[in-house]
Amino acid sequence: MLQPLKFRSLELANNLIQAPLAGYSSMPFRLLTKRLGNPGLVVTEMISARAAQLQSPKQDRYLARVPAEGKVAFQLWGNDPAAFAEAAKIAAAAGADAIDVNCGCPVKKVRAAGAGSKLMEDPPLIGRIVERLRAATPLPVSVKIRVGLSEQNYNGVEVAKVAAAAGADFITVHGRHAAERYSHPARYEKIAEIVAAAAVPVIGNGDVRDGDTARKMFATGCVGVMVGRACMGAPWVFAKIQAELRGEEWTAPTRAAMTAALLEHYDLLADLLGDERAIRQTRKLGALYSRGAFAAKEFRNRMNYLHSRADLVEALHLLEP
Ligand SMILES: Cc1cc2nc3c(=O)[nH]c(=O)nc-3n(C[C@H](O)[C@H](O)[C@H](O)COP(=O)(O)O)c2cc1C
Repeated sequence: MLQPLKFRSLELANNLIQAPLAGYSSMPFRLLTKRLGNPGLVVTEMISARAAQLQSPKQDRYLARVPAEGKVAFQLWGNDPAAFAEAAKIAAAAGADAIDVNCGCPVKKVRAAGAGSKLMEDPPLIGRIVERLRAATPLPVSVKIRVGLSEQNYNGVEVAKVAAAAGADFITVHGRHAAERYSHPARYEKIAEIVAAAAVPVIGNGDVRDGDTARKMFATGCVGVMVGRACMGAPWVFAKIQAELRGEEWTAPTRAAMTAALLEHYDLLADLLGDERAIRQTRKLGALYSRGAFAAKEFRNRMNYLHSRADLVEALHLLEP
């Protein structure tokens, strides 16, 4: 189960991966996740392959990356193979250790651009994107797919085969089809079918939050596990999963450590995005970090009226007993 992974020259110390999370997994999120949970790989928010080529402060913040994050995969979205190739070079210059192609995003705006899960309707296009990336960069290239398009069309196996034949080094599979959000539990049996059919290693994704759920995912035969929602507001969840997979007792961080992490998250965001955006993101992060905490309800209520760092510092006292 727990093991190092190697894709081309990229060596990962372990096979747990932090999922790409739009609106969250910018550099501060990844930095804290690495330091407090130590996954083998962290992944950026999805970055537009076209927009990455624009010189603008907005793109700078998507491309920001620091050494303390460890190994970082940059996830690109789009539908033009040439734009992916150019964006991959920009990502590499920004410090990317791997390039991932988003083939799973169900958001309307992304699908309307022919990208995200829309790509799974056109497997040969996914093949062309991977081929162009393969030719453009020596970095490992991966695709992140759904198990299929719909209940009627589980074409994840076909997409995985096309991506592998085009030169993908590994494939990450989210165990839901593109027409569903999160109500249905992850379909582990469909991930297992893709593992069995794909000629390259598969990373399993969906509903992993602790040692038991990670074990269930590894039973699909996947070589690694990606975790999304469970690490939002809990950057230490990867440490918990590793300890539980080793059969060790895991002690949750103290309340003081949790509140310190949230405050540091805010400070890093403010440096990267400016106060206003940092405040907006911290309102959501506050609710996530305080899950299960004493006075969490009152704290979340305060988050709705968060306007400054001083407000945050004051509200954090509520969480400490
Ligand atoms: C807020 C949010 C943002 C997401 N953003 C992305 C993204 O940018 N790219 C992507 O491939 N998947 C994205 N996903 C999907 C996750 O990476 C992951 O596949 C999904 O949450 C299932 O894993 P989980 O059950 O561990 O959360 C997002 C999910 C959430 C909840």
